[in-house]
Amino acid sequence: MKKIIFSAALISVLFSCKTEKQMQQTTTDEKQHIELELPETISSEDIGDDIFVYTIKIGNDPEKSHLTASLPITLYDFVNKSEERLTQEFITEFKNEFEIQENGAILDFNQHFDVKFHSEDFLTFLYSQNASYGNNYGEKHFVSVFDLKNKKKIQPQDFFTNEENFIAFSAEIQSLVKKAIRERIYADKNYSSDQEREEVLQMLQESIQVGTAANATNYNALFFNEKGQWIVIFEKYQVASGAMGEFVIEIPKEISDKYIDQKFLNLFKKEAPEQVVLEPSQPVYTEVDCSKVPCVALTFDDGPSVYTPQLLDALKTENVKATFFVLGKSASVQKNTLKRIADEGHNIGNHSYDHKDFRKISEDEAIRQITLTDEIIEGIVGEKPRYFRFPYGAHTQENLAMVGRPVIGWNVDPMDWKFRDVQQVVEGMSKGSKQAIILAHDIHKTTVEAIPQVIKNLKAQGYHIVSLDDLFRYKKLKNGQTYSNGK
Ligand code: NI
Repeated sequence: MKKIIFSAALISVLFSCKTEKQMQQTTTDEKQHIELELPETISSEDIGDDIFVYTIKIGNDPEKSHLTASLPITLYDFVNKSEERLTQEFITEFKNEFEIQENGAILDFNQHFDVKFHSEDFLTFLYSQNASYGNNYGEKHFVSVFDLKNKKKIQPQDFFTNEENFIAFSAEIQSLVKKAIRERIYADKNYSSDQEREEVLQMLQESIQVGTAANATNYNALFFNEKGQWIVIFEKYQVASGAMGEFVIEIPKEISDKYIDQKFLNLFKKEAPEQVVLEPSQPVYTEVDCSKVPCVALTFDDGPSVYTPQLLDALKTENVKATFFVLGKSASVQKNTLKRIADEGHNIGNHSYDHKDFRKISEDEAIRQITLTDEIIEGIVGEKPRYFRFPYGAHTQENLAMVGRPVIGWNVDPMDWKFRDVQQVVEGMSKGSKQAIILAHDIHKTTVEAIPQVIKNLKAQGYHIVSLDDLFRYKKLKNGQTYSNGK
C-alpha cells in the first residue's frame, strides 16, 4: 500500500484568554496552549479521488475569541503544502489581531472552502474567510486553482494567453461591474432621486477602474465551475462602498470564449453527468427499544472531516449507531463520507452551512444557512435531515421558529475541543446517564481515538448506544423545541 506522507507541520498557537475581564466570566485557563498537528500519514487507498476536510479549531466558546479554519487534504502533496501555508497565514493573522485587541473584543475568525472544479487536470478551491470583531462578519473570497499535471498553482494571468488578453478581458469586466452597480443603486429605495443616483455612480467611477484593473489581487477570485461558467467575485469595498456589499459577476460566454486560453475552454466540450437524487425515507429503527433499556446517543458535530472514516470504522466494529451534525460546507466536499454515514445506519443532522453564530447574522442569512445545508445533504444522501443543532447551541428566539424541525442540544459535554487528550476525552464522554445526549466533535483526532474506549465504558455501564431516531422513537417531537436528552 502506497503511503502518502504529509508534512507534519506543527502549528503551535499560544492562546491567552484576555476577554474574561470584559465578560465577567471566571476561567481557569488563563493561558491555553494548543498544538495542532496535521495528519501525518494517510494512505492513498483512504484518499482515492476524494478531498478531505481538515479543520483547525482554537476555542469554541462564543463568548471568547475563537478561530475555525478548514483546509483540504488531497492526494497531491504540492496542493496540501500550498493550502497549509495559506491557512497558517490566516492563523497568524488571528494571533496578531488577538495581541492587538487590548479592549478585549471577541474575535470570531473562520475559513472554509468549497470545491469548484475537480478533474484529473485541474482542481479549484473557492475560499471564504470571515472575521467578526464582536458584531457582524466581514467576508473575503479567493481561489486556489491547481494545474495537477504540471504541479503548479495557477495565477489569474495564467488563464490568458498573453497580457493584452488579460487587459482587454478586464475592460469588459469593468463594464459588467458598472452595470451591476447601476442596477443595485437603482433598486435601492434610499436614494431621493435618479439624479442623486447618477451622482453616486459618477463618484464611483475611479474605484471601479482601480478595483477591476488587470492584476493578480483584483482577480484573486476568478474561476470556472463544473458547468464551465466563469465567475469573478469582487469583495465589499473593492469596487464600491462597503454598504453595497460584494459583487459576484457571472461572465457571459461570449466574453470568456473570446479571451480565456483555449486549454481551459476545452475542458467543457463534453456534457457533465446528471446527478441522481434518491427518494426521501423515514426514520429507521434498530432492535434496541429505549423504553425498556437505558440508552445514550453519541452525537458528532462540525464534520465530516479527515478523521470521520476512522470513526465510522470504530462504530462499525462495536456495532453502534450515532448521529452526525454536519456542516453543509464540509458535506459538499466529503460526499463519499456523508454517503457512508447514511449507508451504515447513522443519523445525519443539519448543523448550519459554515458554523456562524446565529445571533450575529441576519434572518435571511440564517435561513440560507439552514436551507443550503438541507439541499446539500439531500442531494448526496437523498433525504433532508430530521434534526437541527445550532453552532455553539447559540440562537435567538426568532431562530427557533425558522428551523422547522426539532432542535437538538446535549447534556453531556466532554469539552473535547479544548482537552486534546485521549484519556480526558474518554472520561468526559463516558459519563452517561439514562437517555443522555453526548456531544463530541469528529474533527479532532483525539476525540476519534477516544471512541473505542468510550463505547466499551458506556456498554460496561449497561447503556445501549443509539441514533437519535432510536432515542426519540416513542417521543412526539415538536418543531422549534429544544431537546437535550431523550427523556
Ligand atoms: Ni459546532
